[in-house]
Amino acid sequence: MCSHAGAWERVGNISAFVVKKMSIYKIENLSFSYDEKCLIFENIDLQFDINKITLLAGINGSGKTTFCRLLSGLEKKYKGRIFLENKALSKLSAAEISEKIVYLKQESFANIIAATPSEDIAIWNHKFQSKILPELEKEQIEALKEYYLEPLKDQPFWEMSGGQIKRIGLAGLLLNIDKYWILDEPVTGLENALIDILINILQKRKTAGKGGLIISHQFEKFEQIVDNWLKIEDKKIIELK
Ligand SMILES: Nc1ncnc2c1ncn2[C@@H]1O[C@H](COP(=O)(O)OP(=O)(O)OP(=O)(O)O)[C@@H](O)[C@H]1O
Ligand SMILES: [Mg+2]
Repeated sequence: MCSHAGAWERVGNISAFVVKKMSIYKIENLSFSYDEKCLIFENIDLQFDINKITLLAGINGSGKTTFCRLLSGLEKKYKGRIFLENKALSKLSAAEISEKIVYLKQESFANIIAATPSEDIAIWNHKFQSKILPELEKEQIEALKEYYLEPLKDQPFWEMSGGQIKRIGLAGLLLNIDKYWILDEPVTGLENALIDILINILQKRKTAGKGGLIISHQFEKFEQIVDNWLKIEDKKIIELK
């Protein structure tokens, strides 16, 4: 599953293409349970490349969301080791983790921070980006437009449909374009045209060397962009194809 990337560097008197390993996550002997009775993962060894897109499937309750939470540093009581860009995840602060990755949660409401899409996008910008204001504003409007949110930008979330709320989270992703994306069921409840927007963005990011982990059962939607197909089965994560 691991691939290589590199750069031209001077080696003595000549230029050489120096191959570098580009792993975003390295997981060693990972086991996890919420309580002693029910083990969710047992002795998982995996590696994810920064520039690859991985799709993870599994039946309801198999542990897909739990796996996302482990990678995002939200579940801490695991056995084994998780490295994020070669640093032990357990030693990184939430702020350090969110510099590298962005996690779109399965429950759309959990991705909402403020009362309206405009405020929400502004907070995303403020919290996670340190660019100058005019650039932020441009990105903000582009993100809202991308998911057809402009007509809704000042509407409170409690007056929106489930699909509309989902789109706010997806727009927030566009402001975190450089990071590794962990997307828990990003297309569930989304109309086809909006799924196509997400696929296009994922494709563009991939061309630019940015990958992610996607949880979904809708294999056909992601066929063209996925590099690695994984499935949770019996407390293990196995390769599907
Ligand atoms: N906070 C928690 N405390 C205890 N058990 C939990 C907790 N969260 C999830 N579980 C249990 O862990 C197992 C895995 O849950 P998880 O949400 O990761 O599954 P999933 O594969 O994402 O399911 P779905 O397809 O329904 O989204 C389930 O049996 C669930 O009941
Ligand atoms: Mg889930």
